[in-house]
Amino acid sequence: MGKQRVTGSYEVTAVGGEQVRAFLPRPLPPDPPLDLSGRRQRLLEEALLSLGRLDSVSTLLPDPQLFLYAYVRKEAVLSSQIEGTQSSLSDLLLFELEAAPGVPIDDVVDVSNYVAALQHGLERLASGFPFSNRLLREVHEILLARGRGNDKLPGEFRRSQNWIGGPRPGLAHFVPPPPHAVAECMGQLERFLHDDGPTALPVLIRTGLAHLQFETIHPFLDGNGRLGRLLMTLYLYHTGVLSEPLLYLSLHFKRHRAEYYRLLDRVRSDGDWEAWIDFFLTGVRETADGAVKTACRLVARIDADRRAIEARGRSSGSALRVHDLLRGRPLTTLTEVCRRTGISFPAATAGMSVLIGMDIAQELTGQKRNRVFVYRDYLAILNEGTEPL
Ligand SMILES: Nc1ncnc2c1ncn2[C@@H]1O[C@H](COP(=O)(O)OP(=O)(O)O)[C@@H](O)[C@H]1O
Ligand SMILES: [Mg+2]
Repeated sequence: MGKQRVTGSYEVTAVGGEQVRAFLPRPLPPDPPLDLSGRRQRLLEEALLSLGRLDSVSTLLPDPQLFLYAYVRKEAVLSSQIEGTQSSLSDLLLFELEAAPGVPIDDVVDVSNYVAALQHGLERLASGFPFSNRLLREVHEILLARGRGNDKLPGEFRRSQNWIGGPRPGLAHFVPPPPHAVAECMGQLERFLHDDGPTALPVLIRTGLAHLQFETIHPFLDGNGRLGRLLMTLYLYHTGVLSEPLLYLSLHFKRHRAEYYRLLDRVRSDGDWEAWIDFFLTGVRETADGAVKTACRLVARIDADRRAIEARGRSSGSALRVHDLLRGRPLTTLTEVCRRTGISFPAATAGMSVLIGMDIAQELTGQKRNRVFVYRDYLAILNEGTEPL
């Protein structure tokens, strides 16, 4: 249990002829100040240590970009799954190969948008664009660009009252601020995230606070959960806590979804920012540690397979090239192999046959053309935690 605080006030507003109580959050930081002593301080230090270890994975590996492709997509799948999207990691990878028969299209488009949105945000930040509401709106625009989100005002703050849970605002579980207050609330959040003054809270703490505040404001008509989770990755990248987006924190929120929702409510009802921050920091530590372990297991798998291929001597050349590609793209086609490695189609076919003979790769479609190959053991390791809810 943390401190009791008043974290906002209610404004009675009329929606569709009904009186509802919309919540107006107070600006961050928490007041009275967040208790960062004792156990919580240790949690913070442990989370930072784990993040540092994860970050070093991206620089210590022989090929630093190796897992980036897969980890970013894992986060996209998990973050989308929290709200019921059914797509798996394989669905997304297949979709990206444009070889996705039978994949529920709306779902996979959502996840694919998520990847594009994250990439856009990272590129903007890398080119010096400030971390800002403008950036968040751009990212939102991409998140909802294609598919079922595109009638939900992509890239724009909402102009109507929304609500969470329940058939209508009067029966809602929670009513976020009225539309006229959204810009002001978001402006306050932006200023809070920019405050680097001597009394500013540690970056990681700010990240956690900002996510919750963002969910409370619920500034968009849809995509608030996903954008609020993207916000964390982008802010950690922007502040240099992560030099690559390797943290799939949504795994923690998905695993403990009921707790996640309960803590969002508790900040409003009791002002218990501490309980939320504990949950958040624990999640950062656990997912960062998990991501490091996953990287180690992937490297071990890759190395063992590589040695086995090399042991075959003369026939191993093109098989090694194909395996090289599979290390970063666990689902692929022969066309993709040729395009990315530069080897010929016959060489790619021969190399892949060797891997299939060794039971390292499998063919998925059972077709003669447009075949898709999977690095099964690798994908299995990556898939952990991404099972549908
Ligand atoms: N009681 C709550 N209070 C505040 N935010 C909540 C609450 N319950 C859920 N949320 C947040 O709202 C998100 C869902 O909002 P929504 O706009 O539909 O986002 P998305 O389309 O990305 O799922 C959840 O992922 C969660 O982050
Ligand atoms: Mg939604």
